[in-house]
Amino acid sequence: SWTTGNVIEEQVAAIRAQVGDKRAICGLSGGVDSAVAAALVQKAIGSQLTCVYVDHGLMRKGETEQVEKDFVAATGANLKVVDAQERFLDALAGVSDPETKRKIIGREFIRVFEQAQLEILQEEGPEVAFLVQGTLYPDIVESGGGTGTANIKSHHNVGGLPDDIEFQLVEPLRQLFKDEVRMVGQELGLPDEIVQRQPFPGPGLGIRIVGEVTKDRLDLLREADAIAREELTAAGLDREIWQCPVVLLADVRSVGVQGDGRTYGHPIVLRPVSSEDAMTADWSRLPYEVLAKISTRITNEVADVNRVVLDVTSKPPGTIEWE
Ligand code: XMP
Repeated sequence: SWTTGNVIEEQVAAIRAQVGDKRAICGLSGGVDSAVAAALVQKAIGSQLTCVYVDHGLMRKGETEQVEKDFVAATGANLKVVDAQERFLDALAGVSDPETKRKIIGREFIRVFEQAQLEILQEEGPEVAFLVQGTLYPDIVESGGGTGTANIKSHHNVGGLPDDIEFQLVEPLRQLFKDEVRMVGQELGLPDEIVQRQPFPGPGLGIRIVGEVTKDRLDLLREADAIAREELTAAGLDREIWQCPVVLLADVRSVGVQGDGRTYGHPIVLRPVSSEDAMTADWSRLPYEVLAKISTRITNEVADVNRVVLDVTSKPPGTIEWE
């Protein structure tokens, strides 16, 4: 019969048999799947696993700390955190076009991750022959079957290493659906903040700033987003909504009156949606009191924001994210 205990036991045995005494690398994104995959592999092979987390500076408040502290506390994993915030900000400077932003973030991410892999390969120890991925059953069905190996092509000149390094893939979640992954994660002792996390896009807050991405704008959006999340959680709405992007219209200003005088600040958009699979979505009819609380707090607590607006568009025609 299917129990999380059986799944864990089977996968731990399979991972040990596959990896043997070699080493493995796992990229952590902050999402559920990579965290649970890493926790399973960690349980199986312990210090033979090194996890890599790229801090691109586009995460929400507390998310990097969650990986740094809570994930390590729950699993005991070796974690290499790469602080690449400046690199991403530099690469994004002057860019407002959504697709260009996405391409830049994707490209920089791969470069930083590969550099970290090369550094791990150069460390003392057994051969690093495995790459752990949090591929789920639906991912495999959608893409028409897995590949089994990954070719990591080096963009950097690192002395003594081959241009192409081939890894075997370890995919311990490939028979599982999302809800089962969450149960396995819970059983492995991962905190709810990781296991019950709502979807968050890889390019992070970079695609929730309409306009150029700067450090100040990221900090502002992080504050507004943290307030929205706090109030939604306090109202017990986390399970009811699929996700709630909070968007900064950095290129828009409107007139307001705050304290003693006129302001000319930016709007923040709330985009709460309900959905089954993110392919279609409807805007969530949040209680007015909750919306009022979020609006009051954001305009009071976040400098340069003098207006909060609600996105009442379904998908289609709107996408969930604004970019
Ligand atoms: P859209 O905006 O296309 O979003 O309606 C659908 C779902 O996908 C998420 N999303 C992403 N997730 N990398 C991701 O991992 C991405 O580049 C990305 N873009 C959108 C979005 O948050 C929503 O859940």
